[in-house]
Amino acid sequence: MMIDIHTHVIPGVDDGAEDLDEALTLLAMAADSGVDTVVTTPHCNIPDEYKNYVCPELDALWRALGREVQRAGIPVRLCRGMEIFATEDMPDLLEQGKVWTLNGTAYFLTEFAFGEEPDFCFDVLRRCREKDFRPVIAHPERYLFVQDEPAIAYEWCTMGYGLQLNKGSLLGKFGRPAQLTAELLMDHGLAACVASDAHSAAQRTTHMGEIRRYLAERWGEDYARLLLEENPSRILKGRELLGYEPIPVL
Ligand SMILES: [Fe+2]
Repeated sequence: MMIDIHTHVIPGVDDGAEDLDEALTLLAMAADSGVDTVVTTPHCNIPDEYKNYVCPELDALWRALGREVQRAGIPVRLCRGMEIFATEDMPDLLEQGKVWTLNGTAYFLTEFAFGEEPDFCFDVLRRCREKDFRPVIAHPERYLFVQDEPAIAYEWCTMGYGLQLNKGSLLGKFGRPAQLTAELLMDHGLAACVASDAHSAAQRTTHMGEIRRYLAERWGEDYARLLLEENPSRILKGRELLGYEPIPVL
């Protein structure tokens, strides 16, 4: 069974599911497509936008969603997480427990501004690592600086950072540059996992059937299983990621 480590399904807290109905539709869709564990990763720490730091209210919303999922008989397990927007103080936020890591492990999901400076990314990720947190970088293929210089993704991979590709990038939903970059990361063995980054029941959904078939057809069943099952499972248990020997990007 698949595990989706990147979704926006807690109703009303970000630009994801708008209400409980939509959240349940998204989770039922995940289950139908063969996903049995969904990590809820609301946007957080975005300056002047979504804050969503750890607080009793957010925890209550998360628990309430879990109860509704059970009541509706949807066979998925929810795990806590956040998509943490990278700022200078992200290492401190992690250390102080102001943001949720992935299922309470050392792994955390982080995103950058699309036009961020690579030096800032390297620096902030290194400082998180020094505090014993393990970055999982959301959709590296969508950042302009990675599209321009994919060798950055190779460096991240060799530093032990997990690279989470979006299913939509591979399926061409985020434009040609993101798709080509995602394919390059796949071909070089740099991807740790693939997730939905689902935001709504209409587009960017939780359904993982098409991507599962596509990954297996193009890169083989073993690689598909590694990215959709094995590594996500390892992340949620705080275990080392597995992968192919990364091929340097020239
Ligand atoms: Fe996201």
